[in-house]
Amino acid sequence: MTVLGIETSCDDTSAAVYNTDAGLISSTISSQLEHMEYGGVVPELASRAHLSLIIPIIARALSAAGAPLGDIDGIAVTAGPGLVGSLLVGVSVGKALALARGIPFVGVHHIEGHIQSVFLEPPLPPYPSIVLVVSGGHTELVLMREPLSYEVLGATRDDAAGEAFDKAAKLLGLGYPGGPAIQQAAEGGSDSFVEFPVSRVPDFEFSFSGLKTALLVYVRGKGETFVRENLPHILASFQRAVVDALAVKTVRALAGRGVRTLLLAGGVAANRALRNRLALEARRNCFSLFVPPLAYCTDNAAMIARAGHERLIRGMTSPLTLSPEPRLPL
Ligand code: KG4
Ligand code: ZN
Repeated sequence: MTVLGIETSCDDTSAAVYNTDAGLISSTISSQLEHMEYGGVVPELASRAHLSLIIPIIARALSAAGAPLGDIDGIAVTAGPGLVGSLLVGVSVGKALALARGIPFVGVHHIEGHIQSVFLEPPLPPYPSIVLVVSGGHTELVLMREPLSYEVLGATRDDAAGEAFDKAAKLLGLGYPGGPAIQQAAEGGSDSFVEFPVSRVPDFEFSFSGLKTALLVYVRGKGETFVRENLPHILASFQRAVVDALAVKTVRALAGRGVRTLLLAGGVAANRALRNRLALEARRNCFSLFVPPLAYCTDNAAMIARAGHERLIRGMTSPLTLSPEPRLPL
């Protein structure tokens, strides 16, 4: 089976082709740059940009796959959560293609897509496994007992991990998206320069808003010159605080559930400090760690094509009346 995947939930317009035997055969993406000067994604600009980019991006994905539309057996589209105006573009185009071709259509949960990014390249992780999902909108620990089964063990009470990076970067004038900017600016800095507070939330929950406030108070208190001169140290310390919080809860969830496999997914999975820390915890605590290829950590259609493929081969489809959901539980 050959599936065309479409992702337009935020500011990336992406299409990809996934085949049962060959795996991922093409993946194209256009990241909208018009949001940079606003320090965040402007929803109205995003949906308009998707509208002009989506058809050329799909054409490129099909041509790179060497597969004309006639070779596609199913369409998978991100149905939520995300920006509703952005989701509408992908969902409308996906439904129209499925109707015109008379092929099955399936709406995919964006977070399921991120989780499936770990399955894009071998070795494939075994079950049961726990997934740490860390993106701009989500921070969750998810238990997977079997394929396509997701039990949320805990989530963030306030900001997501990626959001914490984005807000910190905005505060320090480092631009958007904040994660890659902070990782780069923290390079070579001492991560024990500032002791940021550890949030106290129960079980497998997270909280990052206190950390954001602590950074704001610290930066205001120290003044511009001090902050500029010590920026790599301050950012390395901030990054370590985020990584610490994620790692501690993740190790606790693995031990608590007696699970020995960890998957890392979402945009923040690209973070080098987080990857290194979890690899260290894996050696220390004897669990195996599976991470997505770097190129498929942030939003992409390859993960949606793979997730849609897993659903479609099991006969799971969505009606052509499907409407995108900006807030959709996993
Ligand atoms: O998964 P994603 O592309 O979009 C959402 O579904 O939200 O994640 C985007 C988030 C942003 O908050 C961005 O700052 C963060 O992922 N991010 C990173 C890195 N690359 C992207 N955070 C930390 N380190 C990175 N290298
Ligand atoms: Zn995402």
